[in-house]
Amino acid sequence: MTIKRIAVLTSGGDAPGMNAAIRSIVLAAHHYHIEVIGFYHGYNGLVCEEYIKMAKPLTLLDVSSIIQRGGTILKSARCQLMHEERGVALAAQTLKEHNIDALIVIGGDGSFSGLLALKTFWSGQLIGVPGTIDNDVDGTDYTIGFATAVNTGIEAIDKIRDTADAFERVFLVELMGRHSGHITFNVGIACAAEQVLSFENFSSENPTQELQQLAAQINEAKEARHSSYIIVMAENLWPGGAMELAKQLKLQADIDCTPCILGHIQRGGSPIAKDRILATKMGVAAIQAIMDGKSNIMVAEQDNAMYFIALEQAIKHHKLVSQQLVDAQENILALTAQTQC
Ligand code: F6P
Repeated sequence: MTIKRIAVLTSGGDAPGMNAAIRSIVLAAHHYHIEVIGFYHGYNGLVCEEYIKMAKPLTLLDVSSIIQRGGTILKSARCQLMHEERGVALAAQTLKEHNIDALIVIGGDGSFSGLLALKTFWSGQLIGVPGTIDNDVDGTDYTIGFATAVNTGIEAIDKIRDTADAFERVFLVELMGRHSGHITFNVGIACAAEQVLSFENFSSENPTQELQQLAAQINEAKEARHSSYIIVMAENLWPGGAMELAKQLKLQADIDCTPCILGHIQRGGSPIAKDRILATKMGVAAIQAIMDGKSNIMVAEQDNAMYFIALEQAIKHHKLVSQQLVDAQENILALTAQTQC
C-alpha cells in the first residue's frame, strides 16, 4: 500500500525533545512524499470538535527552529474520553475522515494504551514514540525528555546545595516521576544526595520504621560532621509528599528539614543533546517502520540501536529502576558513612 498521509500528535505530560521528534518525523516523511497532519492537544485533537478543526498539514517551515524548544508545538493533554469505547470510536472516525494511513503518538505508556485501543476500530498503522520525563516505558533504555529532566534536577539541587552548605541545613527535595524512581535515583546519585528515597528502597508498609531510620541516619551524620544534608525523594512516595514528611521529621524526631518541591520545572527547558539526538533517531525510525508496513509497535532504543517493540509489551509493565543503580546508591551511602566525607 502506498502511504500518502499520516497523523502525529503528542499526548500526556510534555517532555523536552518532543519537538525534535516532530521535526524528524516531518523531515523523514517529506523525504518519502508523505503528508503529515498535526493534530493538536493530544487525543482531544481526534475526539473534540473544537480541536479537530485545528488539525493541519505540517510543513518543513513549521518544524524549522523547533529542535531546541521545550514543550510541544502540537500542545498536549490527557484525554479522559480515550478511556471509553465511544472516545476511541470517535478518534477512529476522525482518522478515517482525514484519510490517514498511519498515526504516530509521542507520549508515555498511558498514551500507548489509547493507541492500542484504536486497533479494534481502525485499520491504519499505529506507531508509538516514547516521550516522557519519567523514563518508565518498558522496552526502551531511555524515553525522550528523561535526560533533560535529570539535568534540570541536578542544576536545581546543585544550587540548593550551596545554600544548604551555608546554613548546614537538611533539605528534602521532591522530584517527579509519577510512580517511578528513575529521575529520583539518577538525580540523587549525580548530586551526591545523602539519601535517595524512592519506591525501590522504601517500605510503604512500615512508614514509621522508615521515618525513624531516616531520622537516625540524619542525626548520625549531623553528629559526625557539620555539613548540609540533602534527601531526594520520589513524588507519591509519602502521603502528603515532601511537605508532610518534613513536618513528621520535626514532630517525631525534632529534625528541622526544609522541603522543596521541584515540580514542573523538570518538564520544561531546552532539550539537551542526548534528547535531541534520541528524538531525531526515533522520529526517523517511526517513518521507516511505516514504510516497512509495521503497526502496533513502539520505537525503542536498546544499547544505542533502534528496535521495534510490540505496543502490548511496552505497556504491560512499568520499567523499573535497575538494581545496579539502586545498589550503587546503597554502596556509596555505606562508604560515605564509613569515611565520614
Ligand atoms: O508523566 C509526566 C509527569 O510530569 C509526571 O512525572 C507527573 O507525576 C505528572 O506528569 C504530572 O502531571 P500534571 O502535569 O498533569 O500534573
